[in-house]
Amino acid sequence: MIERTSRRSGPVAARVRELERHSLRRPNVFAPGVISLASGDPAGLAPDRVVDRLRAAVERGSLGYTHPYGLPRLRERIAAWLAGPPRASATSPSGAAPAVPAPAPPAWERILVTQGASSGLAAIALALLDPGDRVLLPSPTYSLYADVARLAGAVPEFVSARPPGHPLPLEGIAERAAGAAMLVLSNPCNPTGAVCSERDLRELTDIAERHDLLVVVDEAYSSIVYPPARFTSALAIEELDERLVLVDTFSKRLCITGLRLGFVLAPPALARSIQRVHHTLLGPVGTPVQEAVAGLLEEGIGSVDRHLLAECGHRRELVGEALSEVPEVVYRPPDGGFYAFFRVPGLEDSDGVARQLLTRGVAVRPGAEFGPGGEGWLRLSFCGDREELAQGLQRLIGAFPELLATATTQEGTR
Ligand SMILES: Cc1ncc(COP(=O)(O)O)c(C=O)c1O
Repeated sequence: MIERTSRRSGPVAARVRELERHSLRRPNVFAPGVISLASGDPAGLAPDRVVDRLRAAVERGSLGYTHPYGLPRLRERIAAWLAGPPRASATSPSGAAPAVPAPAPPAWERILVTQGASSGLAAIALALLDPGDRVLLPSPTYSLYADVARLAGAVPEFVSARPPGHPLPLEGIAERAAGAAMLVLSNPCNPTGAVCSERDLRELTDIAERHDLLVVVDEAYSSIVYPPARFTSALAIEELDERLVLVDTFSKRLCITGLRLGFVLAPPALARSIQRVHHTLLGPVGTPVQEAVAGLLEEGIGSVDRHLLAECGHRRELVGEALSEVPEVVYRPPDGGFYAFFRVPGLEDSDGVARQLLTRGVAVRPGAEFGPGGEGWLRLSFCGDREELAQGLQRLIGAFPELLATATTQEGTR
């Protein structure tokens, strides 16, 4: 529970002090010369069409406010697109057959356009959580979820998957679900790349129904699923509909991280509250980017999905080859997303290892940033420039023999 301290004990709100004390997020800025494999930013792969459409929107003078919850044309387009690939249809961009039939398009009024997925997640937490509410987070997981829960005064509870390759520690979730208010899931998972099966989602739905749990599913990486893995959207599980809050973003799939465009889809009563909170905090998202993405969705983004999947697929192979050069490395290529999550037994302090790697000119993320289930692991992002990736990988694998030798010597002198 949040400590009830007097306002006079400091100028900052208690929930913000809690956030500062507990946040697992690590800095994302590194010294010059360091190759960053730390950030999930595929902006270098952005299609020219995005820039053309943005320019056209600005030239048309589309510079005013839109509807506070987002341009109706964009919301309609998103609703229609949600019923097609990659959610579940015969032409999934990964080429894989659909796990379950395509869902019917949701009513566009249930959609809120957000500043990337991030502001959607914050609005969900502030709209739906009361102070002291428990929020279950299958871990390892994206570090923002715990922070937005704390900002709302709620209490994140990590449920660790061991080993961390499975997205849903269902037993642990079932044990902790009584009395919890919400569960937040990243599918495909950042950082592990694990993808939930239809069966996983159905079992989760059963638990959620039994315990009246709200389920927030973040499908930011749904367009990047490598065959033979198959993506099943939470939207395809009808029984989940009344308690599902879906979060998504165009940041990764259109490689436009800096343009800040995402959305939330929620059941009508919840959607109204989330929309109100988002409007109060942020107002509508920039008009040119909303128009650009509406236009792209009208035209179809299947080719962008295929391009990104192919680019990520090449890089995933590069990473697999490089990591296989170090026999000690434990690594299974991700089924989805563009992160490699791996460990080197003997190098267990992920923050310490990440710091050591920085001194050798390469930045990765310590697994501890993703909750207790991630400690002992490292995450590298492979969506950036190919040359840099190759160089960063050389620095990384070159460092391990020395780090291992030092760790063994330290162990021996203890
Ligand atoms: C799972 C997941 N959700 C959401 C986000 C944030 O997305 P956005 O940049 O659109 O706010 C990220 C960014 O890395 C992510 O990995």
